[in-house]
Amino acid sequence: MKTVMVTGSNVGLGKECARQLASEVEGVEKIILACRNPAKAEAAKEDLERITSKQIFQVLVMDVCDLDSVRNAVASLEDSSIDGLVLNAGGMLGLDLTADGVTISFAGNVLGHVVLTQELFQAGKLKSGSTVVYSSSEAVRDIPELSAKRVQLDEHSVEEFKRVADGRFIASRKSMAPARGETYGVVKYMGTLWTSYMARQHHNIRFVSISPGASSGTKFFDDMPMAGKLVVKGVFKVFAMFGRAHGVEEGAKRYIDALMDDETFPTGGFYASKKGSSGPVADQAQAIPSFAEYKDTTIQDKAAQAIHEIINQKDFVNTTKTNTEESTAA
Ligand SMILES: NC(=O)c1ccc[n+]([C@@H]2O[C@H](COP(=O)([O-])OP(=O)(O)OC[C@H]3O[C@@H](n4cnc5c(N)ncnc54)[C@H](OP(=O)(O)O)[C@@H]3O)[C@@H](O)[C@H]2O)c1
Repeated sequence: MKTVMVTGSNVGLGKECARQLASEVEGVEKIILACRNPAKAEAAKEDLERITSKQIFQVLVMDVCDLDSVRNAVASLEDSSIDGLVLNAGGMLGLDLTADGVTISFAGNVLGHVVLTQELFQAGKLKSGSTVVYSSSEAVRDIPELSAKRVQLDEHSVEEFKRVADGRFIASRKSMAPARGETYGVVKYMGTLWTSYMARQHHNIRFVSISPGASSGTKFFDDMPMAGKLVVKGVFKVFAMFGRAHGVEEGAKRYIDALMDDETFPTGGFYASKKGSSGPVADQAQAIPSFAEYKDTTIQDKAAQAIHEIINQKDFVNTTKTNTEESTAA
């Protein structure tokens, strides 16, 4: 694997993934740091060069919430092929709407990555033998060990998936204040379904979803209010003591394993913790029988159709100001 692109690689799991690729994976000649903030990206590049003593990092400025930015970034790429693509950028992002009428959460975790992949295909840079790794999460299914129940879709229809994308789905749940956490699980679910859908469309390219698991040492919770952030960081420390969370190194290692090991991680699969959100990894259809639905090709097709209609139909654009305002009014 010569050239690997990692989105959101200026901090956290993406940066650690870039470090491991340079230090621990043989044959990697170039790592493209696809990040939205040029100053942060350059600082990460310098740091990675210092830590790894390798000059193989290149910054590509790309905001995955801005589809023109994604298209321009791909147009500026000189590389003839991307052998590994790690779709890592994202997290518990906001619920305000982007210019495309979807939540920042959906744009950052899904839409920008779909367009990035499409553009790389169109430019002929994803080739036979390339591997695409989507960063998913245990939050797409129940985590009984943490008393966390996932938000279930009602219909799995194209229309419902579109409502996930623009935030109306979560806003319509009267019992639930629209919150980043609930949105996050269903949004990552859509990204995971899309990844499995892509595996069926492109037999010569491996598409896998993997959760890095509960990984401390990233900026994942930094947008939370201070009190909540301190609580979560404390909880992570306690969880780590009981094997329910791990460090950023182990989380990023899951990306590397998924990238490099096509026997353990065959195309189309969604891999995450066998139990809870840390420890050994397994295909979720086997590990969590209640979640085998992600393999349902009809559901995958509907999710992909919704995403493609959002990209292709400008009349999708939702004119609601923000979902938070919408739900308050309701
Ligand atoms: N940490 C965990 O426990 C955990 C568990 C399961 C899944 N994950 C997933 O792992 C991935 C990485 O998370 P992390 O914990 O490493 O979080 P993080 O430290 O907050 O890193 C997130 C990265 O995504 C970038 N990003 C966000 N919005 C972007 C945009 N519009 N365009 C380009 N880049 C953007 C951030 O850039 P800026 O620095 O510019 O904001 C940052 O580089 C996420 O997809 C997350 O959902 C994390």
